[in-house]
Amino acid sequence: MVRIQSNRLALRRITLDDVPDFFELDSNPDVHRYLGNNPVRSLEQSQNMVEDVLRQYDANDFGRLAIILKATNQMVGWAGIKYEEKVREEFAYFDLGYRLKQQFWRKGIATEAAILSLKYGFAIRNLKKICAAAHEDNIGSNKILSNIGMSSEGHFFFENTKCNWYELSKERWEEQQLD
Ligand SMILES: CC(C)(COP(=O)(O)OP(=O)(O)OC[C@H]1O[C@@H](n2cnc3c(N)ncnc32)[C@H](O)[C@@H]1OP(=O)(O)O)[C@@H](O)C(=O)NCCC(=O)NCCS
Repeated sequence: MVRIQSNRLALRRITLDDVPDFFELDSNPDVHRYLGNNPVRSLEQSQNMVEDVLRQYDANDFGRLAIILKATNQMVGWAGIKYEEKVREEFAYFDLGYRLKQQFWRKGIATEAAILSLKYGFAIRNLKKICAAAHEDNIGSNKILSNIGMSSEGHFFFENTKCNWYELSKERWEEQQLD
């Protein structure tokens, strides 16, 4: 069982019970502004997304985790590490990502969940490197990745969109913990 927490947040595995929350999250066009502008339109699409996460847990023992606000037990979005095979044509990598329901933006939640995810990936799962990609205009996401110590390593194009590319090694992460 995966359960990672801070004072405010708990990260736990996503289940089929989360489908309505996924629908609330992914049917919002603002949430999908930098994600290809293709919000979901049906619960069935959200169920397919959750089933895809469950398949990743089985195949890789990694996948995004639900972010729970402990004070209210609300599912506010997801964050975590995914074994990503489709974004970079040249290689697969462990990807850090996050997505929150809009009413929970600008409260530091994604930053906190990203820090927890790095700790999980490096300290508990012993990954050697974690990477991330963000649309170049997605100011919030780019800020998070810089703020948590990921190193900006240029850009690449994904589906004709310019994305910034970030990397962080376990060694560098450990050094930053000592700062
Ligand atoms: C991007 C996203 C995860 C940010 O989550 P969040 O919880 O609001 O982020 P935080 O509150 O931790 O903010 C981190 C920093 O980014 C800034 N920020 C967040 N959203 C911002 C925005 N829309 N415009 C400008 N700055 C923004 C915050 O002010 C904060 O800055 P600081 O370091 O100077 O204090 C959230 O907007 C979201 O889920 N968007 C839709 C999905 C998405 O784009 N995911 C990322 C794909 S790469």
